[in-house]
Amino acid sequence: ELFTQAWIFIRGVPAMKFLPPEGPPEIAFAGRSNVGKSSLINALVNQKGLARTSNTPGRTQELNYFVPGGFSGEGTDLPPMALVDMPGYGYASAPKEKVDDWTKLVFDYLKGRVTLKRVYVLIDARHGIKAKDDEVLSLLDKAAVSYQIVLTKTDKIKAAGVPRLIEETLQKIKKRPAAFPFVLATSSEKSEGLDELRAAIVLAANG
Ligand code: GTP
Ligand code: MG
Repeated sequence: ELFTQAWIFIRGVPAMKFLPPEGPPEIAFAGRSNVGKSSLINALVNQKGLARTSNTPGRTQELNYFVPGGFSGEGTDLPPMALVDMPGYGYASAPKEKVDDWTKLVFDYLKGRVTLKRVYVLIDARHGIKAKDDEVLSLLDKAAVSYQIVLTKTDKIKAAGVPRLIEETLQKIKKRPAAFPFVLATSSEKSEGLDELRAAIVLAANG
């Protein structure tokens, strides 16, 4: 019932020094610009405008923290987890300096955050794993940060192709030490694969 609560935005983090104190388990969403990170968070909590989305790659430019509402944050009244929306990597329609800054922020956060319990690495079902994704997976393997691959926008490919795509993706990551050996397939647009992802997130946050 966690995901049916009203979630709220609590903080946008433009640099490592602005991270909140380490508290509840954090679940982060990483992936190339425009892959659908912010849309997936909105779909998970069923709140359309919670995380800002756009057609233009480079929409999310800070680490954005979301928590279920109703927790004071005082003493032990802490939310059970935070979802962290991240800027994308790869091409973005923003000045290079800015993109370089947020890419560094994403990489620093991914390898150095003690309370980061799981990273969902989103891969566009139409494009598969690209060089930049491999770079991020290698960083997570090296830092021993648990991650799971989520295919996005499956509504854009033929339904019959999804099982094969999952299998191909699994083959590509099976030797990676920190990869969770199951690949999820989702469509935020068509609300597909969300219950599986919600269940996985709850397990990861409690594990
Ligand atoms: P950045 O913040 O720029 O890195 O992008 P993002 O990964 O947060 O992507 P965002 O959620 O903003 O979505 C990018 C575009 O993809 C938007 O136009 C969304 O409407 C679209 N989109 C997201 N998820 C889906 C999906 O499941 N299906 C379809 N067809 N489009 C989607
Ligand atoms: Mg975004």
